[in-house]
Amino acid sequence: FQTEKTINERLLNICELLEKHVAYYNWVGFYFRNGLKEELLLGPYVGEPTDHTVIPFGKGICGQVAVSNKNFVVPDVSAQDNYIACSITVKAEIVVPVFVNGENIGQIDIDSNTPDPFTKEDERFLEFVCAEVAKIL
Ligand code: SME
Repeated sequence: FQTEKTINERLLNICELLEKHVAYYNWVGFYFRNGLKEELLLGPYVGEPTDHTVIPFGKGICGQVAVSNKNFVVPDVSAQDNYIACSITVKAEIVVPVFVNGENIGQIDIDSNTPDPFTKEDERFLEFVCAEVAKIL
Protein backbone atom coordinates (compact mmCIF):
# COMPACT_ATOMS: atom_id res chain seq x y z
CA PHE A 1 0.00 0.00 0.00
CA GLN A 2 1.00 3.57 -0.47
CA THR A 3 0.95 6.31 2.16
CA GLU A 4 3.15 8.86 0.41
CA LYS A 5 1.34 11.25 -1.85
CA THR A 6 2.53 11.56 -5.42
CA ILE A 7 3.75 14.91 -6.73
CA ASN A 8 0.55 15.37 -8.73
CA GLU A 9 -1.60 14.65 -5.67
CA ARG A 10 0.33 17.28 -3.73
CA LEU A 11 0.02 19.81 -6.52
CA LEU A 12 -3.71 19.12 -6.74
CA ASN A 13 -4.02 19.62 -2.96
CA ILE A 14 -2.33 23.01 -3.32
CA CYS A 15 -4.77 24.00 -6.09
CA GLU A 16 -7.71 22.87 -3.96
CA LEU A 17 -6.53 24.83 -0.91
CA LEU A 18 -5.96 28.00 -2.90
CA GLU A 19 -9.31 27.80 -4.71
CA LYS A 20 -11.15 27.03 -1.48
CA HIS A 21 -9.61 29.72 0.72
CA VAL A 22 -9.22 32.68 -1.60
CA ALA A 23 -12.64 33.78 -2.80
CA TYR A 24 -11.35 35.43 -5.98
CA TYR A 25 -9.18 32.45 -7.04
CA ASN A 26 -11.68 30.66 -9.29
CA TRP A 27 -9.48 28.46 -11.50
CA VAL A 28 -6.12 27.34 -10.13
CA GLY A 29 -3.71 25.13 -12.03
CA PHE A 30 -0.15 24.31 -12.90
CA TYR A 31 1.50 24.21 -16.30
CA PHE A 32 4.91 22.61 -16.78
CA ARG A 33 7.43 22.70 -19.58
CA ASN A 34 7.26 19.57 -21.75
CA GLY A 35 10.84 18.33 -21.48
CA LEU A 36 13.02 20.23 -23.92
CA LYS A 37 10.09 21.27 -26.12
CA GLU A 38 9.06 24.89 -26.14
CA GLU A 39 5.56 24.16 -24.93
CA LEU A 40 3.66 23.94 -21.65
CA LEU A 41 1.52 21.00 -20.58
CA LEU A 42 -1.41 21.36 -18.20
CA GLY A 43 -0.78 19.72 -14.84
CA PRO A 44 -3.09 19.40 -11.83
CA TYR A 45 -5.84 22.04 -11.63
CA VAL A 46 -9.20 22.82 -10.07
CA GLY A 47 -12.00 24.63 -11.84
CA GLU A 48 -13.68 24.20 -15.17
CA PRO A 49 -11.95 21.84 -17.58
CA THR A 50 -9.97 23.69 -20.24
CA ASP A 51 -9.24 22.82 -23.87
CA HIS A 52 -5.80 24.39 -23.47
CA THR A 53 -3.80 21.42 -22.26
CA VAL A 54 -0.84 22.30 -24.51
CA ILE A 55 0.33 25.91 -24.83
CA PRO A 56 3.25 26.88 -27.11
CA PHE A 57 5.88 29.20 -25.64
CA GLY A 58 4.95 32.80 -26.39
CA LYS A 59 1.23 32.12 -26.73
CA GLY A 60 -1.27 33.53 -24.25
CA ILE A 61 -0.43 34.81 -20.80
CA CYS A 62 1.04 31.44 -19.82
CA GLY A 63 3.20 31.15 -22.93
CA GLN A 64 4.54 34.67 -22.40
CA VAL A 65 5.58 33.86 -18.82
CA ALA A 66 7.38 30.75 -20.11
CA VAL A 67 9.56 33.16 -22.14
CA SER A 68 9.79 36.23 -19.84
CA ASN A 69 10.47 34.36 -16.56
CA LYS A 70 8.42 37.07 -14.84
CA ASN A 71 5.11 37.28 -13.04
CA PHE A 72 2.26 38.39 -15.28
CA VAL A 73 -0.70 40.10 -13.63
CA VAL A 74 -3.65 40.80 -15.92
CA PRO A 75 -6.26 43.01 -14.24
CA ASP A 76 -8.58 42.86 -17.29
CA VAL A 77 -8.22 39.96 -19.71
CA SER A 78 -10.37 41.72 -22.33
CA ALA A 79 -7.60 44.32 -22.73
CA GLN A 80 -4.99 41.67 -23.71
CA ASP A 81 -4.22 40.85 -27.35
CA ASN A 82 -2.12 37.77 -26.64
CA TYR A 83 -4.59 35.98 -24.42
CA ILE A 84 -6.12 32.49 -24.58
CA ALA A 85 -9.69 32.55 -23.28
CA CYS A 86 -10.73 29.47 -21.33
CA SER A 87 -14.06 30.65 -19.98
CA ILE A 88 -16.23 33.71 -20.61
CA THR A 89 -16.63 34.19 -16.84
CA VAL A 90 -12.91 34.99 -16.37
CA LYS A 91 -12.12 38.67 -15.81
CA ALA A 92 -8.52 38.61 -14.58
CA GLU A 93 -5.50 36.32 -14.45
CA ILE A 94 -2.18 35.95 -12.64
CA VAL A 95 0.69 33.69 -13.67
CA VAL A 96 3.79 33.19 -11.51
CA PRO A 97 6.74 31.07 -12.70
CA VAL A 98 8.20 28.11 -10.80
CA PHE A 99 12.00 28.11 -10.73
CA VAL A 100 14.10 25.03 -10.03
CA ASN A 101 17.82 25.80 -9.79
CA GLY A 102 17.12 29.16 -11.41
CA GLU A 103 15.36 27.58 -14.38
CA ASN A 104 11.75 28.41 -15.29
CA ILE A 105 10.21 24.93 -15.38
CA GLY A 106 6.53 25.83 -15.13
CA GLN A 107 4.05 28.10 -13.48
CA ILE A 108 0.98 28.52 -11.39
CA ASP A 109 -1.94 30.02 -13.28
CA ILE A 110 -4.94 31.56 -11.54
CA ASP A 111 -8.08 32.92 -13.16
CA SER A 112 -10.51 35.18 -11.36
CA ASN A 113 -14.13 36.00 -12.10
CA THR A 114 -13.61 39.27 -10.21
CA PRO A 115 -12.19 42.25 -12.14
CA ASP A 116 -8.74 43.50 -11.06
CA PRO A 117 -8.46 41.45 -7.83
CA PHE A 118 -4.72 40.72 -7.69
CA THR A 119 -2.35 42.78 -5.55
CA LYS A 120 1.37 42.71 -4.77
CA GLU A 121 0.38 40.55 -1.82
CA ASP A 122 -0.93 37.88 -4.20
CA GLU A 123 2.34 38.03 -6.13
CA ARG A 124 4.46 37.64 -2.98
CA PHE A 125 2.20 34.87 -1.67
CA LEU A 126 2.23 32.94 -4.97
CA GLU A 127 6.01 33.36 -5.29
CA PHE A 128 6.22 31.70 -1.88
CA VAL A 129 3.87 28.90 -3.01
CA CYS A 130 5.94 28.37 -6.17
CA ALA A 131 9.17 28.24 -4.15
CA GLU A 132 7.61 25.57 -1.91
CA VAL A 133 6.41 23.68 -5.00
CA ALA A 134 9.95 23.75 -6.43
CA LYS A 135 11.15 21.85 -3.34
CA ILE A 136 8.82 18.89 -3.95
CA LEU A 137 9.44 18.49 -7.71
N1 SME B 1 -5.62 32.23 -20.11
C1 SME B 1 -4.41 31.48 -20.27
C2 SME B 1 -4.67 30.09 -20.78
C3 SME B 1 -4.84 29.10 -19.71
S1 SME B 1 -6.40 29.16 -19.00
O1 SME B 1 -6.46 30.42 -18.20
C4 SME B 1 -6.61 27.89 -17.97
C5 SME B 1 -3.46 32.20 -21.17
O2 SME B 1 -3.81 33.21 -21.79
O3 SME B 1 -2.31 31.75 -21.30
